Amino acid sequence: MEQISKPAGLASLVIALDGTAGSGKSSASRDVALRLRLRYLDTGAMYRAMTWHLLTQGVDLDDLDAVASSATEAEIVSGTEALRPTITLGGVDVSVEIRSDETTAAVSQVSAVPRVRQLLTALQRSVIGPGGIVVEGRDIGTVVAPDADLKVYLVADPAARAERRVAELTAAHERDVVSVEADLLRRDAFDSTRAAAPLSAASDAVVLDSTYLSLDEVVDEIVRLALERAQS
Ligand code: DC
Repeated sequence: MEQISKPAGLASLVIALDGTAGSGKSSASRDVALRLRLRYLDTGAMYRAMTWHLLTQGVDLDDLDAVASSATEAEIVSGTEALRPTITLGGVDVSVEIRSDETTAAVSQVSAVPRVRQLLTALQRSVIGPGGIVVEGRDIGTVVAPDADLKVYLVADPAARAERRVAELTAAHERDVVSVEADLLRRDAFDSTRAAAPLSAASDAVVLDSTYLSLDEVVDEIVRLALERAQS
């Protein structure tokens, strides 16, 4: 992949990349970070790590006080190297566990809890720090980094998203497109209608529809916008 030498403005640039599940956010964010030699933060992985923490602690997810109190004890650390992003919980690598069906099924419920969002938003802001980073999530442009230099909101047709998701799954997790699409839509509906920081495009976000674009085309467009912002 061709890398671009860093213009001065890129060193402190913050790119917020939000969008629905399966919109191609993760691949696009990582590739943009690699091309521009920026750091990369996957905030969905943090919500997943928090969910894994609560599940392994046996916390009743319907008991908001118990969730809030256990959440404060989770030690989540995200490595921001785009080539090899890491996520640890209490010092232990949980990159496989956070992608389990169990975690995926519970993560929307956990991420709707205000105390969880408060803790993870603070953690995300501390990682963003001086900038030079691509941050992907659901509420980055609206809540976590409202002053981001570039906000992109990625959307795609649900059937296209489901097909991409199925293609990503390993043989051990083989699923059919129809059931994956139903899951994506269920999660989108939940994430978009929760009271705390619902999934929505910031008013100043560039909305990019990736349905008919290749990953490279999406990345090219975001890189072009980022270089424009870095130089302005
Ligand atoms: O991007 P993902 O599918 O790994 O995200 C997992 C869940 O985390 C998703 O259902 C919504 C939630 N999430 C969130 O509420 N806010 C974020 N900034 C990132 C993810």
